[in-house]
Amino acid sequence: MKAIVVYLSTSGNTKAMAEAIANGIESKHVDAKAISFYDVKLEDLNGSDAIAVGSSTFYYRMLQPMEKFMDETLASTNPKGKLGAAFGSYGWSGEAPILIAEKMRDMGMIVIDPVLRILHKPTDKDLQECKRLGVDIAEKLKHKSKTPQPQGTPS
Ligand SMILES: Cc1cc2nc3c(=O)[nH]c(=O)nc-3n(C[C@H](O)[C@H](O)[C@H](O)COP(=O)(O)O)c2cc1C
Repeated sequence: MKAIVVYLSTSGNTKAMAEAIANGIESKHVDAKAISFYDVKLEDLNGSDAIAVGSSTFYYRMLQPMEKFMDETLASTNPKGKLGAAFGSYGWSGEAPILIAEKMRDMGMIVIDPVLRILHKPTDKDLQECKRLGVDIAEKLKHKSKTPQPQGTPS
């Protein structure tokens, strides 16, 4: 099982969240890495059972390159049925994670509710919350791998 945490962050706030989420996943012995949206490769996405995506909120939406990544890159990997999580730092309105989760659901992903939003720079307590989301991702992945998946329609 593998998880990837993809982020786009202008001043490091959402990046710090991503790293804490990846730590939380790894603490449950699930392979995870936090990776900047600029460096992520298609094979990273294709090889991941869980995909967490984070963007800070700018002008009441996610950062524009992240929107393009969701609509074009992530959608092209057909992530239907994969576990998803959305997160991001914000200043006052915080729409980005909600919009990310919406796009994930439109792609058929199973999205952890609620999304994780942190005001400005995460405090130590906030980072613990991020880590807890990582633990939740790992536990849901393990549970999912134990649950029999539909094998197609019976003949
Ligand atoms: C030009 C600009 C526009 C912003 N627009 C919003 C906004 O519409 N809503 C909001 O909640 N925060 C907004 N913010 C605040 C950022 O989301 C916040 O500073 C966040 O912590 C940045 O995180 P990052 O370092 O991960 O990019 C804006 C910040 C800037 C500089």
